[in-house]
Amino acid sequence: MPLTELHIRNIRNIAETRLNLSPGVTLFSGVNGSGKTSLLEAIYLLGTGKSFRTHRTEKIIRRGEQESTVFGRLSRENGGEDSLGVKKDRTGLEIKKNQKPITNRSILASSLPLMVVTPNSHNLLEGGPQWRRRFVDWGVFHVEQRFSSHWNTFRRLLKQRNALLARQELERAELEAWDSAFVAVVEEITALRRAYLEALEPHAVFFLKALGFEEESFDMSYQPGFSLGSSFGEQLAQGYVRDRAMKRTQLGPHRADIRFSFDGVDVRQWISRGQQKLLVYALFLAQNRYLRQTRGKEAILLLDDLSAELDEHRLNKLLVLLEKEFAQVLITTANKESLPKEFVDHARLFHVEQGQVSLLDH
Ligand SMILES: Nc1ncnc2c1ncn2[C@@H]1O[C@H](COP(=O)(O)OP(=O)(O)O)[C@@H](O)[C@H]1O
Ligand SMILES: [Mg+2]
Repeated sequence: MPLTELHIRNIRNIAETRLNLSPGVTLFSGVNGSGKTSLLEAIYLLGTGKSFRTHRTEKIIRRGEQESTVFGRLSRENGGEDSLGVKKDRTGLEIKKNQKPITNRSILASSLPLMVVTPNSHNLLEGGPQWRRRFVDWGVFHVEQRFSSHWNTFRRLLKQRNALLARQELERAELEAWDSAFVAVVEEITALRRAYLEALEPHAVFFLKALGFEEESFDMSYQPGFSLGSSFGEQLAQGYVRDRAMKRTQLGPHRADIRFSFDGVDVRQWISRGQQKLLVYALFLAQNRYLRQTRGKEAILLLDDLSAELDEHRLNKLLVLLEKEFAQVLITTANKESLPKEFVDHARLFHVEQGQVSLLDH
């Protein structure tokens, strides 16, 4: 589902720009501060309603302006097209799909599945567990339609449970009245995440090999946020005193993590930054291929600041794979001369300068 048209207004230093986009690889080059990341941020706003740079989405509104808008047209796999529009102001977000207002942000994500790789992406391996939960949930969300509603139920029940735990007076029975529903939804989420990672693993292994990793075995093990020994229900009951003392539910999918290892050794313990980067790409390639296989959908890859963190040989391999595997890849770089010439020759080129984006001839 490539983006074919994009119209951006008032996102950071971009006052207004209209672009026609194509499938395949597009490179946006320009000096630092020209607005390259802002351009990807605009696309991300269109696909999620949020920014990948800040939790405070309103920060992307161009200084002195009241609202940001992004409009995009996408071609569908089966022919035909959809349009999406978002308007962000300081009080909220308005969304339209095919001109009709919608209230559910997840419609954006399912219409425009996006993957983002930035210079911070090694956080998927080295950062806190929330990065890895986001990774697995991205996949489960797109592959399993049930996940969204389970997740919303989980969030609601967790909030209620925590509110009860924080109360001065609490009868244990009152809490337990809620717990069977909570346990049921935790088990659903745990099963969905685990099944997703299991299904993803062979694809990850495939792309690791393709990217030159020689280790014997790669493993992603899901750590559900409670122990594996006994049921979640039992552990929740056993944890009552602690939960009450902490005024929060200590166990559950909101505490889950994934352990990535090669030949039994945690990847954080030994692979280099360059290899971590490649591993992250392998994981995203795997997610995209699995999404295509299961739902016939494709993600658009947004790649911010493609740089020479990788040696030329590996960078070449990677770029060939990305071009082959993704229907559309939008890449920003401050230094396109450092990229393999063949690759650049192949790509569509835009020049970004002071918030203006223009098509370049080769
Ligand atoms: N809300 C805003 N309004 C106007 N300009 C902004 C806003 N936020 C950031 N900027 C400016 O936008 C410019 C482009 O930033 P960025 O997209 O990060 O550039 P690049 O990725 O090309 O290095 C920066 O010079 C920054 O100061
Ligand atoms: Mg940038």
